[in-house]
Amino acid sequence: PPSVPERIEEKRRAALLGGGQGRIDAQHKRGKLTARERILLLLDPDSFDEYDMFVEHRCSDFGMDSSKNKYPGDSVVTGRGRINGRLAYVFSQDFTVFGGSLSGAHAQKICKVMDQAAMVGAPVIGLNDSGGARIQEGVESLAGYADIFLRNVLCSGVVPQISLIMGPCAGGAVYSPALTDFTFMVKDTSYLFITGPDVVKSVTNEDVTQEQLGGAKTHTSVSGVAHRAFENDIDALLNLREFFNYLPLSNHDPAPVRECHDPSDRLVPELDMLVPVESTKAYDMLDIIHSIADEREFFEIMPSYARNIVVGFARMNGRTVGIVGNQPKVASGCLDINSSVKGARFVRFCDAFNIPLITFVDVPGFLPGTAQEYGGIIRHGAKLLFAFAEATVPKITIITRKAYGGAYDVMSSKHLRGDANYAWPTAEVAVMGAKGAVQIIFRGKEADAEAEYVDKFANPFPAAMRGFVDDIIQPSTTRVRICHDLDVLASKTQSSPWKKHANIPL
Ligand code: COA
Repeated sequence: PPSVPERIEEKRRAALLGGGQGRIDAQHKRGKLTARERILLLLDPDSFDEYDMFVEHRCSDFGMDSSKNKYPGDSVVTGRGRINGRLAYVFSQDFTVFGGSLSGAHAQKICKVMDQAAMVGAPVIGLNDSGGARIQEGVESLAGYADIFLRNVLCSGVVPQISLIMGPCAGGAVYSPALTDFTFMVKDTSYLFITGPDVVKSVTNEDVTQEQLGGAKTHTSVSGVAHRAFENDIDALLNLREFFNYLPLSNHDPAPVRECHDPSDRLVPELDMLVPVESTKAYDMLDIIHSIADEREFFEIMPSYARNIVVGFARMNGRTVGIVGNQPKVASGCLDINSSVKGARFVRFCDAFNIPLITFVDVPGFLPGTAQEYGGIIRHGAKLLFAFAEATVPKITIITRKAYGGAYDVMSSKHLRGDANYAWPTAEVAVMGAKGAVQIIFRGKEADAEAEYVDKFANPFPAAMRGFVDDIIQPSTTRVRICHDLDVLASKTQSSPWKKHANIPL
């Protein structure tokens, strides 16, 4: 019989081969990389320390105990490594072994890296590519999912959790990505759904393809389940590395500071001309964000969903910041159900992970209509209000133009513990626009009332005179002011009353 060292070597070789060359070729033929190739691309060279390469599934039903049905490492590759020198824990489901399906052993491997990550304070990255619960194992597999879900919940707000969907993810399996902070997808090869097209057909008689039901386009533009979609495995993994650089390792860490070659005192002259004089004309909030961010870099989250609000990560003088901005180009930048939820979740992530918030305000109010009211805009709009109010990270707000009605309060106003609140000269802080206001208070009878209203309210003075904005600033100086404020606010501490947890309106 082979010696122990020979057996170790043999098992290692088998583990590296997963489900075998034939299945690796099939994986490649679909335009997908293998679980191990993905880890190698994600992590810095030679930084991967693998765990549990010798773990095997323990199922003996359906002939599963025969040696040809055992694969060292089973259907997931787990371990830790570095991304640009910073620690991350990873699991990568191996579709070549039983379709990446989740056995008890597979779940146990994932739980082990999650526990380690929580203990040392490092993010968890899951690369999902799985046919779901290991059918041969029954409830053992369902228990495995729940063990993972529990850890997702306990890790929430402790270490960043990121899911990258790189193949199927169906049934109960979807709830692990859903519980993580960010879900990214690969176009054309990944899908997420509770039940597949066949079940849908039999229950609701709808004809729908996998792609229509749960592909990257659906989830990044219709459902809001996923936060970004990438062209292919390589593009997705390289973007994930880029994204990782913005994040702190845990809630005990400050967000990382990158060496910055973009001067913090850089003026941005084009901003002085950017906001149109006519207040009904649109402009692109992304132009403002790009022009003030270090090196014009902005990692946008959910760029194709609820586009009336823009959220994402940038750096100011090397520091990671979370940026939130109303987008006048889409629905005039109105807040609605989807944009409120999108904004709220982003704000809460930043607050949980010590990332300062920069908010650009140009909001004509909440979107009117039965669709919004019946959909619960009151409940959902409250989420964004709640998130900004409870956030204790540094909060800097710039009103570029409209800040009307309740939406003014919501958008990180002074009243919600804003630290530095500025208005551009084009700012208008009022209960509503002049036309509507005059219609209501004078029933359109007073001819000069509109001019008087505009004179009184369509400017930054009423807010500035009351100290609700700290200063009226020249737009070109916005970057300078933000960088300076962030330096000062780096030592900010603020607390809220003790509670078990808050009860954000869901
Ligand atoms: N449990 C056990 N084995 C599974 C599995 C599961 N959940 N999902 C896939 N496999 C196996 C398949 O039996 C197949 O094995 P084989 O090559 O030895 O025949 C292998 O993984 C590859 O699966 P296959 O169906 O050939 O791949 P596909 O790309 O055509 O389809 C899926 C992928 C995910 C759509 C399909 O496998 C599927 O529907 N799986 C079941 C999904 C499910 O309902 N899971 C339980 C709900 S949580």
